[in-house]
Amino acid sequence: MACDKFLTLNNGIKMPALGIGTWQAPENEVEEALNLALEAGYRHIDCAPVYLNEKVIGRVLKSWIDSGKLTREELFITTKLPPPALKAEVVEHVLKNSLADLQLSYVDLYLVHVPFGIMFDAAKSEFVRDENGVVMDLTTDHLAIWKSMEAVLEKGLTKSIGLSNFNKNQIQRILDNCKVPPANLQIEHHVYLQQKDLIEFCKSNGITVTAYAPLGSKGIANINKAAGVDRELPDLMDIEEVKDIASAHDKTPAQVLLRWIIERGISAIPKSTNPGRLRQNLDIFDFSLSEEELDKLNALDSNIRVCDFSFFKGIERHPEFPFTS
Ligand SMILES: NC(=O)c1ccc[n+]([C@@H]2O[C@H](COP(=O)([O-])OP(=O)(O)OC[C@H]3O[C@@H](n4cnc5c(N)ncnc54)[C@H](OP(=O)(O)O)[C@@H]3O)[C@@H](O)[C@H]2O)c1
Repeated sequence: MACDKFLTLNNGIKMPALGIGTWQAPENEVEEALNLALEAGYRHIDCAPVYLNEKVIGRVLKSWIDSGKLTREELFITTKLPPPALKAEVVEHVLKNSLADLQLSYVDLYLVHVPFGIMFDAAKSEFVRDENGVVMDLTTDHLAIWKSMEAVLEKGLTKSIGLSNFNKNQIQRILDNCKVPPANLQIEHHVYLQQKDLIEFCKSNGITVTAYAPLGSKGIANINKAAGVDRELPDLMDIEEVKDIASAHDKTPAQVLLRWIIERGISAIPKSTNPGRLRQNLDIFDFSLSEEELDKLNALDSNIRVCDFSFFKGIERHPEFPFTS
């Protein structure tokens, strides 16, 4: 079982279409899960310093590389410039911190995690909040940040650079002013939030797309609850059409949701720390969906955004908040 589909980035680098996500993968679970994932055949790992587990991931990667079970070149590692570090002058320092934690000399893809900056209290290790919600960093300057992204690329600290959660206008502004265009956009993408316009725009500009929350990000309910956000979330694995297609192929709803993404030339990074489910999510390369099945899944689009960042109370007031329509 392995991922036999790759997306070619605009610099020629190949990214395995299926990777594993690591958000809400706590330190005590991620070590075992990542060992199992690498044994199962995952080679693409999606990380971020805000997931608070890069050190453990680094230990696992080092043990696999040092023992000769894997070479660095066989892996595709993504990490991200976090919301409290959206300042041109800290990009290199923050990337070097991630590299130190991951025990790597470079990552394969470095993304700007979100287009809006948030203030961070390093001493308390938490986002700064006041009575209105999170305290925003209103100095966010995309063009200056992108110059620093190009600089870390030039220095070889990453093989590719890209964006996450940026909207079409924000990407266009970078395209109009960059030396190196983004290689990838990571966005929420699943049957209920298909973002056809944005994906078409990316394709026409040579930007590959990675789908986060491809299974509907069930775990986000915990984050919402902790932040006092009371919101009913859809269960994508309980959609009739998805369940019917799954039983026709003797697959699970999750496998159908992932296969639908991969077949459309998009990468998916489902998170699981459960041994059975993480293997299941990779076991999607032995079947394909018919035109009729693809049409049924395409028709489910309902503009339901699961990760709307409402757990950062007040963030929709940031001038660079991307989800305005
Ligand atoms: N750029 C961004 O702003 C951003 C935002 C969100 C996510 N991400 C990235 O994208 C990754 C994936 O998104 P996500 O973690 O939010 O959501 P997701 O992958 O859609 O869903 C993960 C949830 O589904 C469960 N699950 C996994 N496989 C399953 C299966 N086969 N059957 C039933 N349940 C299953 C997981 O639980 P178990 O672990 O218990 O299996 C977990 O609760 C993240 O981990 C992160 O790396 C990026």
